[in-house]
Amino acid sequence: MAQLKLKDVTKRFGEVIAVNKLNLDVEQGECFSFLGPSGCGKTTTLRMIAGFEDLDEGELSVDDKLFSSSFKKYYLPPEQRDFGMVFQAFAVWPHLTVRDNVAFPLRIRKRPKDEIAQRVKMALQSTGLTHREDSYPAKLSGGEQQRIALARAIAINPKVMLLDEPLSNLDAKLREEMRFEIKDLQKKFGFTIIYVTHDQAEAMALSDRMLVMDRGVVQQIGKPLDIYDKPANKFVFSFIGLSNFIPVDIASGEARIKGVAAAASRAAPADLGARALLACRPSDIDFVPPGTPDSFDALVTRRTYLGDIVDYKLAAGAAELRVQKPRRADGPREGETCSIRINRTLWYKAE
Ligand SMILES: Nc1ncnc2c1ncn2[C@@H]1O[C@H](COP(=O)(O)OP(=O)(O)O)[C@@H](O)[C@H]1O
Ligand SMILES: [Mg+2]
Repeated sequence: MAQLKLKDVTKRFGEVIAVNKLNLDVEQGECFSFLGPSGCGKTTTLRMIAGFEDLDEGELSVDDKLFSSSFKKYYLPPEQRDFGMVFQAFAVWPHLTVRDNVAFPLRIRKRPKDEIAQRVKMALQSTGLTHREDSYPAKLSGGEQQRIALARAIAINPKVMLLDEPLSNLDAKLREEMRFEIKDLQKKFGFTIIYVTHDQAEAMALSDRMLVMDRGVVQQIGKPLDIYDKPANKFVFSFIGLSNFIPVDIASGEARIKGVAAAASRAAPADLGARALLACRPSDIDFVPPGTPDSFDALVTRRTYLGDIVDYKLAAGAAELRVQKPRRADGPREGETCSIRINRTLWYKAE
């Protein structure tokens, strides 16, 4: 059964349609991400789920209980929704100790003293903050401050955890560590996670399923690998990883990259018209021995080492291509001409 349900949810700010007819079912225990560029409506959606923002249109329910409905003019206030929440800025209270920060939402809810003590202890233990319980947040690192926010959210024992770019202010290494910590906490407590991020790697690593949105409109919903392999459109393809879009001319069903030998033409799907874009990932282009069927020549214009990956910029006819290969693989040098073959392609209409 879907735990969290959004039906045709729309939110406007003046002329801007921040969220446009969003439909979504999230299952109990899922880690579900909202992915998209800045300004696409992720935070607004999360704020409507949390109850900080009312809906202009649509309906929102949790466990079949109505939380917001524009038709019925119904709106359950945030404090009665009992979500755990963590936001990008370290929203911890500087004048409270770590312990009091974590206890705060429980005190507001007027839980009995024993219960508060026991829940705070558990939350601090789970986030590795026990030894810091008497400290003030300013004395702690960014990662620890964000752990306080996590501990505070866990302490209320929420069924659903709403996280809005919670790791964006942390450095890369810590960000990666904390991803695993969040997953571990989810395993331990079994809450559902709604995770907002503009970072596709983070969404891929964390999510059971995710939604990609652009300008308030959902572009695709699915499992990370399915979205990576079968992007619904050009926007999703380019947002979800590195991409090549190669302009091709199509004649008699054969697509040809401008300036590349006709022998390397490939069959194009019908209905694309005379010009189209052939799309592929940098890892889907291989260096092959000259004369390999379907291969063509390219010039290496730049070669860069990115740790274990070698990143190539190639010129092939009028096209510029990005190729990435593991460092241990043999590859051509800058200034050399090589033979390449594109192994997996998707096609999009030219704009
Ligand atoms: N309180 C507000 N008043 C006016 N416009 C807003 C407000 N909140 C968000 N917006 C606009 O709504 C759109 C979506 O914003 P937001 O949900 O914050 O995007 P994201 O979290 O994906 O970066 C943007 O165009 C933003 O400028
Ligand atoms: Mg945001």
